[in-house]
Amino acid sequence: MKKMILTTGGLGFIGSHTVVDLLNEGYDVCIIDNLSNSHIEVLSYIQQITGKMPKFYQGDVRDNALLEKVFSENDISAVIHFAALKAVAESVVKPLLYYEVNIDGTIAILKAMQKHHVHNIIFSSSATVYGDPKVLPCTEDTPIGEIKNPYGETKLINEMLIKDFVKANEGMHAILLRYFNPIGAHASGLIGEDPKDIPNNLVPYILRVAAKKIDHLTVFGDDYDTPDGSCIRDYIHVCDLAHGHVLAIKKILTIEEPLKIYNLGTGKGTSVLELVNAFKKVNHIDLPYVIGPRRAGDATASYASIDLAQKELGFAPKFSVEDALKDAYHFLIKHEEGSKN
Ligand code: NAD
Ligand code: WQD
Repeated sequence: MKKMILTTGGLGFIGSHTVVDLLNEGYDVCIIDNLSNSHIEVLSYIQQITGKMPKFYQGDVRDNALLEKVFSENDISAVIHFAALKAVAESVVKPLLYYEVNIDGTIAILKAMQKHHVHNIIFSSSATVYGDPKVLPCTEDTPIGEIKNPYGETKLINEMLIKDFVKANEGMHAILLRYFNPIGAHASGLIGEDPKDIPNNLVPYILRVAAKKIDHLTVFGDDYDTPDGSCIRDYIHVCDLAHGHVLAIKKILTIEEPLKIYNLGTGKGTSVLELVNAFKKVNHIDLPYVIGPRRAGDATASYASIDLAQKELGFAPKFSVEDALKDAYHFLIKHEEGSKN
């Protein structure tokens, strides 16, 4: 029998690519999303790509009546909990909102799982929990670092919450996935990263400059202790990241241990200036930028060791940063065309 996977936030950037991969791999999928940072059209794009329509429930993961309906109507094998607010700068000015949505949301999901005897949860955590790592690459045993914003704190609190939950509830299993920097878009150009507000993240910002909606990019600092002075991150194609979730689903459905943690990145660092130059080169366009001051709270360099995910999940990213930047630009062009029609 087909397994039903509930994805919260399944119409968002990472969620939508994961839903596509799950459907292509033969899972049934239902989605809860309140559209606070996504568009309803994504649902029909998922159908265009896969030929299948996931079940969709529009609403908030903190709405207990909605959760009761979703968990009663579906025989759920596992939950992938993506739904959260994720804008670091906004979290600094609206901490209560971030703690409320990101923590109460998880508590509501865990309670519904407990009530309906759903035993498996995969949680979207972040490399942000490593702070500014002293030793690279980051392994899952790298000490948790100093977190400098409420968004990052919510990820750490969620990790602790889920650890305590599986400890207290025999038979429950959780996989915490610590994502590095997801970029890119599906090769169809139909789904990608389309934040509703002005983006904080590098690639969405680059896309706004490429679309001439913003006149230049500011590179936040070129005086770091790195080869070209700009910060280094581990940029992973969102389709590779999505596939990591399918592998984690396969794992969690057969797992013995209550808790596993995996880094999902590529294992390779790229600097901001390298990324900007690669974007220009692969897309044959200019990208005006200026060097500005450092952004408060930025780590100098962060990239993953993915040995554990390779060994235990069979995780092996297929795409390069160049592929991801080409796909991100293709998504932009396709989107711009779409909005003109
Ligand atoms: P996203 O904003 O594109 O997707 C999140 C989705 O959740 C959106 O569709 C939004 O409408 C929905 N949502 C938000 N709050 C909700 C609520 N209360 N109820 C129901 N739906 C809600 O973000 P993303 O980049 O796809 O990130 C997915 C997850 O991965 C998040 O938990 C995020 O914190 C985490 N993460 C993201 C990154 C990244 O760089 N994108 C890195 C590390 C971790
Ligand atoms: C990448 C690099 C910037 C914008 C954040 C969160 C993390 C995770 C991913 C999300 C940095 C530089 C950026 C710009 C720039 N979570 N930059 N000019 O900071 O690694 O991680 O997003 O949900 O939790 O902290 O990603 O894309 O913001 O920045 O020079 O306009 O690009 O300084 O070195 P980051 P980012």
